[in-house]
Amino acid sequence: MRLSGTSALVTGAASGLGAATAAALARAGATVYGLDLGPAIAAGPAAPVGVHLLTANVASELEVQGALDLIRNDGAKLRLVANCAGIAPSRRILSRQGPHDLALFEKVVQVNLIGTFNVLRSAASAMQAVDPDTSGQRGLIVNTASIAAFEGQIGQIAYSASKAGIVGMTITAARDLAQAGIRVMTIAPGLVDTPMVAGFSADVQAALAASVTFPQRLAQPAEFAKLVLMIAEHDYLNGEVVRMDGALRMASR
Ligand SMILES: NC(=O)c1ccc[n+]([C@@H]2O[C@H](COP(=O)([O-])OP(=O)(O)OC[C@H]3O[C@@H](n4cnc5c(N)ncnc54)[C@H](O)[C@@H]3O)[C@@H](O)[C@H]2O)c1
Repeated sequence: MRLSGTSALVTGAASGLGAATAAALARAGATVYGLDLGPAIAAGPAAPVGVHLLTANVASELEVQGALDLIRNDGAKLRLVANCAGIAPSRRILSRQGPHDLALFEKVVQVNLIGTFNVLRSAASAMQAVDPDTSGQRGLIVNTASIAAFEGQIGQIAYSASKAGIVGMTITAARDLAQAGIRVMTIAPGLVDTPMVAGFSADVQAALAASVTFPQRLAQPAEFAKLVLMIAEHDYLNGEVVRMDGALRMASR
């Protein structure tokens, strides 16, 4: 898929993987619309050239549709979506605070899984209206899971359930959207050096880096963005989950 001259939507674009992906897509010549929550946009860095940041909660039907209407009214041809918005609170099933808060579990599933599906379904509907290229392709949707979908650690029950849901949707969505010429891929990152991880102490970060098989370091957000661009370029990749983890297999804690 050619990115130059097309439009892309990136969620979670005010920070971390989403910000790096939005910037990389803009450098590749796409007009990029980045979605994020208002406070995150206000607190984050200024949008790079070619990136328009819009306020929307990915879990809100109305707000995501509103953003897509705005993109359509701009005359943009949406061909790529990178779903990067996500949250990762940690809680054990049983702790001194009692059993895992059900509302917290619901919130994580609401943002990570339902938010991803909400953007996927509305964006697919917008992509359907775009002319196909010579191979019949209209668009690509790249979701972000986590290796916690496969090896969730203690305290990651809600997070790993939400990310496993994204993994499970991948082949089904690819099959479902094939008739519209839309590919669906998922990236499952290991440990990436973003604000989500920056909150850990230096010792914890060093221990995390040491746990990676090779290269023995955290991944950089730009490496995630590069993978999104590689997937966009490779039209035969579809319905698959790609681990980007330096062969890390998480231990139980
Ligand atoms: N950093 C890692 O090591 C790592 C590893 C595996 C998976 N991931 C996944 O990658 C994605 C990006 O993570 P990151 O490390 O860049 O985190 P981050 O916290 O830097 O960025 C996440 C962004 O998502 C936004 N967001 C949260 N809830 C939202 C909502 N309801 N609507 C719109 N935007 C919302 C946040 O405001 C933030 O800007 C997440 O889905 C995360 O689970 C990250």
